[in-house]
Amino acid sequence: MKIGVIGLGHVGLVSAACFAEVGHHVIGMDHMPERAQDLLDGRVPFFEPGLQELVTSNIQNGRLRFERELRPVVDEAEAIFICVGTPSLPSGEADLSQIEALATELAGCLDGSYRVLVEKSTVPVNTGHQMSRTISRLTDSPFDVVSNPEFLREGSAVEDTLSPDRIVVGGSSERAFTLMREAFEPIVQRSGCKMIETDVKTAELIKHASNAFLATKISFINHIAEVCDKTGANVDLVADGMGLDPRISREFLDAGIGYGGSCFPKDVAAFASVARELTGDSALLEAVQAINARGPKRLIERLRSELWYLKGKRIAVLGLSFKPGTDDLRDSPAFAVIEELLASEAHVCAYDPVAMPAAKERLSPAVGFATSAMDALEDAHAAVIVTAWPEFAELDPVEIRLALHLPIVVDGRNIFPPERMQEAGLTYLSMGRPPVRSD
Ligand code: UDX
Repeated sequence: MKIGVIGLGHVGLVSAACFAEVGHHVIGMDHMPERAQDLLDGRVPFFEPGLQELVTSNIQNGRLRFERELRPVVDEAEAIFICVGTPSLPSGEADLSQIEALATELAGCLDGSYRVLVEKSTVPVNTGHQMSRTISRLTDSPFDVVSNPEFLREGSAVEDTLSPDRIVVGGSSERAFTLMREAFEPIVQRSGCKMIETDVKTAELIKHASNAFLATKISFINHIAEVCDKTGANVDLVADGMGLDPRISREFLDAGIGYGGSCFPKDVAAFASVARELTGDSALLEAVQAINARGPKRLIERLRSELWYLKGKRIAVLGLSFKPGTDDLRDSPAFAVIEELLASEAHVCAYDPVAMPAAKERLSPAVGFATSAMDALEDAHAAVIVTAWPEFAELDPVEIRLALHLPIVVDGRNIFPPERMQEAGLTYLSMGRPPVRSD
């Protein structure tokens, strides 16, 4: 079938390429000129494993093409997936102005042929209703708005889209559900995943509740890590013990300096705002946010406890992206860590396998960049690990010690076994686990 995708970021471009990969004809459109030009030149404008190959092959086989304007997409596609940004306002509330503007523009393009408008951006409950009302006031052309939230993780977005745990569709008409079943049939066939059909509001809430719960799990284990720090217990072993209960599961119980990214911070803030507005109470999610905000501070506290004053000290910061497998810096804890180091007049030398080009545009010119992890460690007073890149965990602790000026590693992602660090003669502090010392 003909599918349109509006907004070609991590969600939209992955969705467009995967729909083409499974046999649909996809027309993508993004209103940002530089992104549109990148894609017209066949270039994926961000790092996402496997995506460039998928885009290239589907452009070549003619199933994927890009347009600069909205009208050709609406003229051709029966189902139009809306994947534009829904960033946070200062209050934490979701900024839906791009969604409203697109709804208005879509109304002007509907020409009497039935279209399904698919809300894939993560939006607060009731947004679908607002979209329908806006469009209905502007056109008599037949359409339905459905909710189809994405559950992809950056770094594994292609796999998560082609083999999802579940597909959720919230709608109100059989005609819309029929088109959505056609769109997802190839993916359901190849993955065997369940497709849930419900109403729009329920689908919107499934998404927000899922992300808020995952973020809650992370803040929960980070709160346990704070207790472990005060008692000498080991949070990773606590998580292992908890995770043996299938109702809890070990997933998303990795203690560290906290979550970042384009989703959890935004979605928790938006859901807290909705809960506050609708129920008058958002204490649970505000606690999740507060615990998460403490992560970078706890890391710096460990560093100060070893180095005393940070002024004039050379600190190697390993990792800038919010998680491994992506160059996405949005809400990365690295920014809070580096900001505190610079405020303490430390000298920062950072390294990240893929995120440095983007980081150079955002970080202070005072931050130095290394050509490799070992280069960053060279002659540093301490190393701070912010992102759990596999290449950092594969470093030889003895090599780390030999490179450092002082044998001090502060690990914000618990990527090393403490006993290996101690054997190598390092002082190693991590999150929620007893420190090991070389002196
Ligand atoms: C998340 C959800 O997982 C995904 O389902 C949703 O569609 C979008 O948001 P993403 O933000 O890409 O995906 O990455 P994810 O792997 O969930 O990690 C988010 C953050 O949590 C990262 O900063 C990661 O370092 C952190 N994290 C994750 C932890 O600190 N501990 C964990 O145990 C897991």
